Amino acid sequence: MSRKNLSKQDAPKNITNSEKKLGDDDFIVSKTDTKGKIIYCNEIFAKMAGYPPADLIGANHNLIRHPDMPRIAFKVLWDLIRDKKEFFGFVKNLCADGGYYWVLAYITPDIDSSGKIVSYTSIRRKPPQSAIDTIVPIYKQLCDAEKSGGMDASAKLLGSFLEEHKVEYDELVINLQKGATL
Ligand SMILES: Cc1cc2nc3c(=O)[nH]c(=O)nc-3n(C[C@H](O)[C@H](O)[C@H](O)COP(=O)(O)O)c2cc1C
Repeated sequence: MSRKNLSKQDAPKNITNSEKKLGDDDFIVSKTDTKGKIIYCNEIFAKMAGYPPADLIGANHNLIRHPDMPRIAFKVLWDLIRDKKEFFGFVKNLCADGGYYWVLAYITPDIDSSGKIVSYTSIRRKPPQSAIDTIVPIYKQLCDAEKSGGMDASAKLLGSFLEEHKVEYDELVINLQKGATL
């Protein structure tokens, strides 16, 4: 059977409101090269995203990028991991059928013995509904800010939001995952 090389063009154009829920005990795992191309994914990843596992290898991770995700979230992600730090964040992902699923993603760089980043690994769990309910309006405001003022506007908004609530970004994510509300 031939393998399809998936690209962003293969992502669904018809976005729906159909939500897929990750199981309480499930972990979604994927690994990418330094550019963000998938080099490994587990079965649950393929099942949730809705693509044949073999077709996902070599695809850019943005295949499952959902339009409701603010661009600033991915800038924070890449700035941290390229700097050899870890990233925690809530991510709404796009399924092949146009639906979506929410995850708490934990992404780290894989560093070789010479200190060079060779790949990145992401492990995701199911977030509590309270975290999703809190994050949805925040992401919506960030997306709206990006539509009018680009990423400068969303970065500023995120900064003032964290300042207003007196939390660091990581602290906010971990608190929400533990079930806290704002
Ligand atoms: C290990 C790893 C896992 C990633 N997982 C996701 C993911 O699950 N969903 C997603 O939208 N982007 C994920 N990304 C970020 C994508 O590489 C990309 O930055 C994002 O989808 C935005 O793409 P765009 O700027 O081309 O729209 C991941 C990146 C890495 C390094």
